[in-house]
Amino acid sequence: MDDELEKALLQELAGLKESGLFFLDDAVQSSPVTRYLSEERFDCERDRIFRSLPLIAAHAGELPENGSFLTRRVGALPVLLTRDRDGTVNAFMNVCRHRGARLVDEEKGCKHSFSCPYHAWTWNSSGKLRGVPHEKPGFPDLDRDVFALRRLPAVERLGLVWIIADPDAASDFDGFLDPIAGDLIWAGLDTLGIAARDTFTLSANWKLLVEGGLEAYHFKVAHKETIAPHFVDNLSSYQMLGSHIRSILPRTSITSLRTDDIPGWHIRDHANVLYSVFPANQFLLMKDHVAWVKLHPLSAGRTEIEIATLAPAPDITDSKAAHWHRNHEITKRTLAEDFAVNEAVQSGLESGANAVLTFGRYEGALHRFNEEVEKFLV
Ligand code: FES
Ligand SMILES: [Fe+2]
Repeated sequence: MDDELEKALLQELAGLKESGLFFLDDAVQSSPVTRYLSEERFDCERDRIFRSLPLIAAHAGELPENGSFLTRRVGALPVLLTRDRDGTVNAFMNVCRHRGARLVDEEKGCKHSFSCPYHAWTWNSSGKLRGVPHEKPGFPDLDRDVFALRRLPAVERLGLVWIIADPDAASDFDGFLDPIAGDLIWAGLDTLGIAARDTFTLSANWKLLVEGGLEAYHFKVAHKETIAPHFVDNLSSYQMLGSHIRSILPRTSITSLRTDDIPGWHIRDHANVLYSVFPANQFLLMKDHVAWVKLHPLSAGRTEIEIATLAPAPDITDSKAAHWHRNHEITKRTLAEDFAVNEAVQSGLESGANAVLTFGRYEGALHRFNEEVEKFLV
């Protein structure tokens, strides 16, 4: 995002606020409840979205040196990420090529050799098979290339590790990422590190959790105990960036902006900027840190959620630990308000009371997000 756009986005919202107007879509829309309840539909989303599109597997800083590795579940697949001797990031299915045991149990570490806990077949960090106990008599003429670890398409870009959770997928990372790349460079994700992280599971469809971040209509009500006083009531704007969404959530200080000082305006001084990276990651840019919410859909009604606080890497020090911890707790407390409502919505949908969810003109981004989801399912 360039300087001019920062000012234009602030100006648009400051103008609306001053005139007592809102950022409105053209029409009221609706979303059928089956989108959130049907397991058949969920299987389709898993195959066509979570196993076909680039997904964020990790922050690049989680693989800090050659030999670093991580194990993750991505799109329901067990994945091993490595940084090999050349510094290249690789993604493999974390499954032994002999008889299918889980190759690596540890969550993270640093090594170039991965030995299966069952019969000790061993691979290096580039996925090459390096050792098979008693190979010659037992496995004569074994072609080690055939038994390389199953590789997944992967790139390191914009400070993140992106993978496609299907070894046979055609990979078009650039086409998917280009519309949001400039903004994520501006966000400086590559200069940040993870200061705190939590993972838990919720009884709600993943799309409800994404939708919860896409409007400010609920702030005054659902967040009255936490963030509501800091934000303008029911005011936000959004822009589509390919399948991704940029949301601007103005803080109350936007009312103090003076038009004779436009050169001094910076968007992060007066608004939170939320990037919803399709399908299921959200980065909320605040003044000095970023809250990262990553969803792993488990079924139509259950989602694993990871919340991380990202801070400038040089500032993740013992002396600032309490500061980041405090911010992480504020994020968690605020999101807990959203999640309690989201779980109640999920059970409300299961009751059959509503055939559709209704998105008002303040909630246009929710409809646009669902349109993107639908696009990949046809
Ligand atoms: S299952 Fe892994 S070495 Fe046999
Ligand atoms: Fe919220």
